[in-house]
Amino acid sequence: MIELPARPALLPPSVAVRTSYLVGEQADMIHREESTDWLREASLDFESFVAQRVGVRERWGVPSELLWYAADEFYLGSLVIRHELTDDEGGGHIGYHVVYPWRRQGHATRMLRDALLLCHDLGIERALLTVAPDNTASLAVVAHNGGVPDGLNHEGELRFWIDTAPA
Ligand SMILES: CC(C)(COP(=O)(O)OP(=O)(O)OC[C@H]1O[C@@H](n2cnc3c(N)ncnc32)[C@H](O)[C@@H]1OP(=O)(O)O)[C@@H](O)C(=O)NCCC(=O)NCCS
Repeated sequence: MIELPARPALLPPSVAVRTSYLVGEQADMIHREESTDWLREASLDFESFVAQRVGVRERWGVPSELLWYAADEFYLGSLVIRHELTDDEGGGHIGYHVVYPWRRQGHATRMLRDALLLCHDLGIERALLTVAPDNTASLAVVAHNGGVPDGLNHEGELRFWIDTAPA
């Protein structure tokens, strides 16, 4: 297993992780049997790709922030914080993925823990997470972070609230 040079952290998208981002996302898309076409554009002009993703942006009609979970030049995954819930609360406050080569090593559990602290700093006292009922891994990630069940949403996803105050 690769030994990371530092503890990964949630950071703004950066060209510093260019190679590991492209390779990691490509591996992930192939694993999911989804199109890798979008990676062509990213690989041709990674600087623009990054510039289009940095900062708080309006997505899903709410201010949203994309962060990359990385340790030096190693990119492990992505996480989105919606600073406000959408009208239908779909997707909750936080969405995330860890790219396939880095899964099952506890990264998502720690990444969500870090994101909850960022939410707290943003004034979000309770974060809403939504998870498909068959997503065993994400259900475990949410459970490890103290998720409290709150029924199903309109898309049939399980809802969980997590208190963001530091333990
Ligand atoms: C969900 C996801 C982020 C988990 O990432 P990860 O880094 O592998 O998660 P962790 O290593 O922190 O594992 C958390 C728990 O899930 C378990 N787990 C991980 N992958 C699993 C799988 N495929 N099947 C069953 N359990 C799994 C781990 O064993 C661990 O359980 P434990 O701590 O009780 O032993 C990752 O699988 C992923 O990106 N999936 C696709 C996108 C997605 O589903 N995002 C979440 C949407 S709500």
